[in-house]
Amino acid sequence: MDKIEIKGGFPLIGDITISGSKNASLPIIVSSLLTGNKLTLKNVPNLTDVISMLELLKSLNSEIQFNNNTLQITNSEPKRKIAPYDLVRKMRASFLVIGPLLARYGHAEVSLPGGCAIGARPVNIHLDAFQKMGANFKVENGYVKGTVKDKLIGTKINLPFSSVGATENILMAACLADGETIISNAAREPEIENLGNCLIKMGANISGLGTNVIKIQGKYKLSGCTFEIMPDRIEIGTFVLAVLGCSGKINLRFADNLIKENLKKIFGFTKSLKIMDKNNGVEVVSNFGEYNGVDLKTKPYPGFPTDLQAQLSAVMTKAKGSSTIEETIFENRFMHIAELLRMGAKINVDGSKVKIIGKKKLHGAEVMATDLRASSCLIIAGLMAEGKTIINRVYHLDRGYEKIEEKLLKCNAKIKRVKSL
Ligand code: UD1
Repeated sequence: MDKIEIKGGFPLIGDITISGSKNASLPIIVSSLLTGNKLTLKNVPNLTDVISMLELLKSLNSEIQFNNNTLQITNSEPKRKIAPYDLVRKMRASFLVIGPLLARYGHAEVSLPGGCAIGARPVNIHLDAFQKMGANFKVENGYVKGTVKDKLIGTKINLPFSSVGATENILMAACLADGETIISNAAREPEIENLGNCLIKMGANISGLGTNVIKIQGKYKLSGCTFEIMPDRIEIGTFVLAVLGCSGKINLRFADNLIKENLKKIFGFTKSLKIMDKNNGVEVVSNFGEYNGVDLKTKPYPGFPTDLQAQLSAVMTKAKGSSTIEETIFENRFMHIAELLRMGAKINVDGSKVKIIGKKKLHGAEVMATDLRASSCLIIAGLMAEGKTIINRVYHLDRGYEKIEEKLLKCNAKIKRVKSL
C-alpha cells in the first residue's frame, strides 16, 4: 500500500488548477444509464471512485472510453440488471444505479452499499420514494431487488431529510417516469444542479434546481449530449484550509461564481483568511500565522460542509482559544481524531461534538488514513506539523483527490508518495 511522507512547517505558495467534482461526476456518469445514446463528459477527475463507477457500468454493458479527463459512455441494455456486491461495496454512490435501472428497464438488483466507514448510512429514503412511484422491493441476501409494473409513476415526494443521494436518485428516475414528480425538501447541493443541467441537456424537463422543490415532467426518452463537470468545491475548501493552517498564498484556478460566493460564506468565521476573486478563480492568502478558534456545525448546502469537517479540525489544533465543531450530517465521522491525538493535538469527542483545545503545536508521527476526508485532514496536519509525518492507507485519498501530492509540491510543500513494492 502506498504511503505519503510530509516534512511540515512550511508556508504554501503557488498555483493549483482544481479538478472536476467527484460528487458531481458519479451521479452524472450514472445518468448515462437513462439513454442508449452516447454521453460525452468533460473535466471528469481520474479518481478511484470514478474508476469503480465505470467498472460497475461496464458490468451493466456500457461501452466506455476515458482519456485525458474526457469520458465517453454508450449504454445498451444489459442482460442482467444487477449491481454486484464486489463493485457496490467499494462506494456508496453505486446505489444511484437503482433509480435509472428501474426507470428504464423496470427491474434492478443492487447490493446494499458500502463506502466510507462513517455511520450507518441507510438507503430507506431512496426506497420509500421509489415505492411511492410504484416500485416493489424485497431485500434478499444483501441485495435490494426492485421491480416496476410497466413504468414508474410521477408523484409528490416529501423527503424526511434532504439527502443528497436520494434527491439525485429520484431526480434521475423521474426523468423517465409517467407524468410529474415533485420532490420537496430536496437537497440543494450544487452537484445536484450540475446533474440536473446535464439531464436537461439530455432532453429532460426539470425546474427548481438549486431550490428545495424540484419538479420533473417525465419524458418517454432521453438522448445523449456533451457536458462539462463542475469544479470540485471540496477540493477547493481543502486547499483553503491548508493555507489557513500553514499560512501562504495560493491561486486556486476554477470557473464557477456560485462556488466563489459560497467559499466566502463558509470561511466567513475567520478574518485571518483573505479570499479574493480573480478572473480564473480565487487568490487565498493567510499571512497572519494566528487565528481564533471556531464554534460551528456542519450543515447541508449552503452551510459548512461535512466533507470539510475533518480538515477544519486539523487546522483548529493551532488556533488561539478552543473550538467546538458539531457534526450534524453523519454519526461517527470522527475517526481522524485518534490520529490527530498521535500528532500532539488536544481534542475531546462528546457525542456528535468535538472540542479542540487550540495553540497545540502538532508534531510529525506515523498515522493511518481511515476514510476519504480523514486522509486530507492528515495531509493538512502533516503540512502544519513540525518534523516528518507518514500517512498510511492513502488509497482512501485516491478515491477523491486527483494528483494532490503533485499539486501541493508545486506550492512549496515537502511531500512525496512512497510506492509500495
Ligand atoms: C453525499 C456525498 C458525500 C457528502 C454527503 C452529505 C456523494 C457521492 N457523496 O453522500 O460526500 O458527505 O452527500 O453532504 O455525493 N440517510 C438516511 N437514509 C437514506 C439516505 C441518507 O438515513 O436513505 C442519512 C445518511 O445516513 C446520512 C445523511 O442522511 O447520515 C446524509 O446522507 P446523504 O445526504 O444521502 O449523503 P450521500 O448522498 O450518501
